[in-house]
Amino acid sequence: MGQTISSIVSDVRVLANLAMAPFRHAGESHKERLEAFYQAQAGDYDAFRKRLLQGREELMAEAKAAHGEGGIWVDLGGGTGANLEMMGDEAIMSFAKVYLVDLCGPLLEVARKRCEERGWHNVQIVEDDATTWVPEEGYGQVNLITFSYSLTMIPDWYAAIEHAAALLAPGGLIGTVDFYVARKHPAEGMAKHSWLQRTFWPTWFLMDDVRLNMDHVPYLLRKFQKVAVVEGLAQVPYIGWLLPKVPYYRFIGKLELPEHEEEEDDAAVIKLPPAAASGKKVKAAGGKKLDIEVPTFQKPRMVRQGSSVN
Ligand SMILES: C[S@@+](CC[C@H](N)C(=O)[O-])C[C@H]1O[C@@H](n2cnc3c(N)ncnc32)[C@H](O)[C@@H]1O
Repeated sequence: MGQTISSIVSDVRVLANLAMAPFRHAGESHKERLEAFYQAQAGDYDAFRKRLLQGREELMAEAKAAHGEGGIWVDLGGGTGANLEMMGDEAIMSFAKVYLVDLCGPLLEVARKRCEERGWHNVQIVEDDATTWVPEEGYGQVNLITFSYSLTMIPDWYAAIEHAAALLAPGGLIGTVDFYVARKHPAEGMAKHSWLQRTFWPTWFLMDDVRLNMDHVPYLLRKFQKVAVVEGLAQVPYIGWLLPKVPYYRFIGKLELPEHEEEEDDAAVIKLPPAAASGKKVKAAGGKKLDIEVPTFQKPRMVRQGSSVN
């Protein structure tokens, strides 16, 4: 279906804003710069980004399928709450709690309005930094964390990923979708991008302080147990036919058992008498024979899923 005049006018406002961004005095702090960037385009944000930011609906569907129901979902750098819309009413209401965290006041206003209109009483809108904010439930309590097109806008994206890992409960899921570029020599099975893609797009997006990075995917793969990685190419609205497509990825990963829990398991092995570890009848410390068969002790191991790029 073709675009209406009002949607074209809305797009022109966004494009004018994006074009002016590099020349604007944007503020001293990251929050001020984000607000200066988004202030004038907050109302038009969703319509334009729907075509620019591809893969968000797929990520929400995959995260929903991998996570199931209940628990806590945190959308970090969640902006206007478009992801919540894509997750759908039923899924939203199935969570015990949903937090949408973002630093940008004008975008959060849109999210607040959306939550009121949809009656999502279990969603809490939080104006805070994704690299430091902690929910009232504390660390290690979140079941699903998503970043959609926010890692490229968070200057210390390492801190954002580290912090997300600290917030996740063991076995919790992280889902990210974003633009990126491949390393010059990507790992086997990963997409290769042309020299033009690897140089043009990071320079282009940097004008709006969006940092496409060749290390996001390798770092996520190192940090989490891979559930799925999908690499794709998107056409940028209006100018896309002139240019190479911009690479984007989706990643879903699982937080593995923390190191110290594995150490505790190791300690349990050491504490058991040798006979217990081999499944034989054992004697108690005082020499009294125990009347039970101790099953062979096996240290639990996390099994890697989805070892191929899919
Ligand atoms: C391109 S927008 C994506 C918004 C939303 N996730 C979506 O898919 O429509 C990037 C978002 O990251 C937010 N952001 C950037 N740095 C942040 C930080 N340190 N803490 C929280 N949010 C941040 C911005 O305010 C913005 O809303």
